[in-house]
Amino acid sequence: MTDQTGAAASQETITRNFLDTPSFWRQYPDRDIEFVRWYPCNIGPLTPDQMFATVETRPRTVSFYLHIPFCNQVCTSCPYNKLHTRNTLVTDYIEALKAEVLLYSRLGYLDGVTFSSGYLGGGTPTTLRAEQLDDLLGFLRRHLTFTDDYTVTIESTPVDIDQRKIDALLANGVNRVSMGVQTFHDPLLRYLGRARAHTGESALRTIELLDRNGMENICIDYMIGIPGQTPELWAADIETLTSIPVTSFSVYNYAVLPGSEAFFAVQSGITPPCPSTKEADAMYHYMHEELLSRNYLALTYNDFAEPMRPEWEAKGAQTFPVLPDGSKPYRGLRAETLSLTDHLAQVWGRCGDMVAFGSGAYGYLNNHLYCTEPDIGRYIETVRAGRIPAVMGAYTDEHERRCRSLVLGLKLLRVSRSEYRARHGVDPYAYFTEKIDDLVAKGLLTVTEDTLQVTYPKGWHYIDNISKTFYSEANHRLPQPSSASTEILNWQVRPENGRRSLNIVQ
Ligand SMILES: C[S@@+](CC[C@H](N)C(=O)[O-])C[C@H]1O[C@@H](n2cnc3c(N)ncnc32)[C@H](O)[C@@H]1O
Ligand code: SF4
Repeated sequence: MTDQTGAAASQETITRNFLDTPSFWRQYPDRDIEFVRWYPCNIGPLTPDQMFATVETRPRTVSFYLHIPFCNQVCTSCPYNKLHTRNTLVTDYIEALKAEVLLYSRLGYLDGVTFSSGYLGGGTPTTLRAEQLDDLLGFLRRHLTFTDDYTVTIESTPVDIDQRKIDALLANGVNRVSMGVQTFHDPLLRYLGRARAHTGESALRTIELLDRNGMENICIDYMIGIPGQTPELWAADIETLTSIPVTSFSVYNYAVLPGSEAFFAVQSGITPPCPSTKEADAMYHYMHEELLSRNYLALTYNDFAEPMRPEWEAKGAQTFPVLPDGSKPYRGLRAETLSLTDHLAQVWGRCGDMVAFGSGAYGYLNNHLYCTEPDIGRYIETVRAGRIPAVMGAYTDEHERRCRSLVLGLKLLRVSRSEYRARHGVDPYAYFTEKIDDLVAKGLLTVTEDTLQVTYPKGWHYIDNISKTFYSEANHRLPQPSSASTEILNWQVRPENGRRSLNIVQ
């Protein structure tokens, strides 16, 4: 027997086990629940000297990720690198960010590059005051060159943004706000520990304010798996989504981190249980069917754009059939054809260069994945001393780059074989025949003359299993890198801990 995703019956007996949450390697027919975001995973100590010792590429267009590790309210199960906002630290941090931008602008490797997109994430970047946002964003605009149709996104909660901050964003060219709504139901927000900060009503008011002020793109995040979430409440959230001015939308699996306040609240019965894996899967499936049948465009299995706008089409945005046999008219959006989705296209689709600014940020330059110093104090010291704060990372040789283009590229549901050939000089099917044949036999992937495409709905359900199929031997069974793993590796190589010393010099 199979369920609606085509998964084997054994799937039905699996229920959510919180102690199992960090599990990061599951083999088909078990669904892998670790969200693949970065590749490669085998990071080790890395210095900026090593990163730029031999210049292998000369990018013309790049993206940036800038991390703001502050929140005004810290949620009860937050996996991100963040601290409670502290004014003096924020001031020092902004100065360090500006100094870091200058370090990069002097780096020969980035001479003459243009930024097609940027992303300010966190934490909550809009915890900065309006004048701080104006100062930082104005600085970025003066020191980085942008393409004409760039997109710069900033993350926010519904309450850490007001008219003055919106004015500062618009005045400095930020044209996309990504807002953590999670759900419009107040009891569920309480179970997430967010109700002190915002309600469904305040989220609606903020979306309306952004829209009224002419914010071009508004994205909201929802979560599936919240304590007490039912199919009915989820259906109501989907209905709300389709009735408000939101250009794109992302959904995340709520992870209850062992040892967190949320973990104890669920385990002790203070909050209702989270939906089981089976219930959460059904919510995903409901969302997919509901949005695709209303002409929403799939970017990934958990990111969607609103139905095609005439102005997007006029600028060359292209779609593809989610079901190549045409049995349903569902469409996906080719992220690389729309500036709104450039960041995703650059980082996962083209596997292009991305500069990481800030503490605990990830980037990719000169064929190196790298992470910056996750400790804020040490990050500030490093930048003040005139050094780029890259501390960990991994070099990707041509084999790893071929793997990477599928590990990350297939997250966008479809990889063009001709674009892959242009980038790597080899056809992906010819290079990975055995792995691809196996995925096809399992009903997870289809291969046509032009593309490798993830099947709907089964392949979507197993998207991270598919992605991990293309991990190299050196990365097999490794977890995704995180700022915590960077912290551990970083500690191991610190001279005061009696380990090998690293000479991090420019
Ligand atoms: C960095 S936050 C976005 C901005 C802001 N900090 C917020 O939370 O609203 C990115 C998103 O991660 C998701 N998230 C937060 N906690 C999570 C958890 N425990 N498990 C899965 N996703 C989570 C939420 O959907 C959140 O909007
Ligand atoms: S606001 Fe966002 S980043 Fe901050 S603690 Fe909550 S989930 Fe984490």
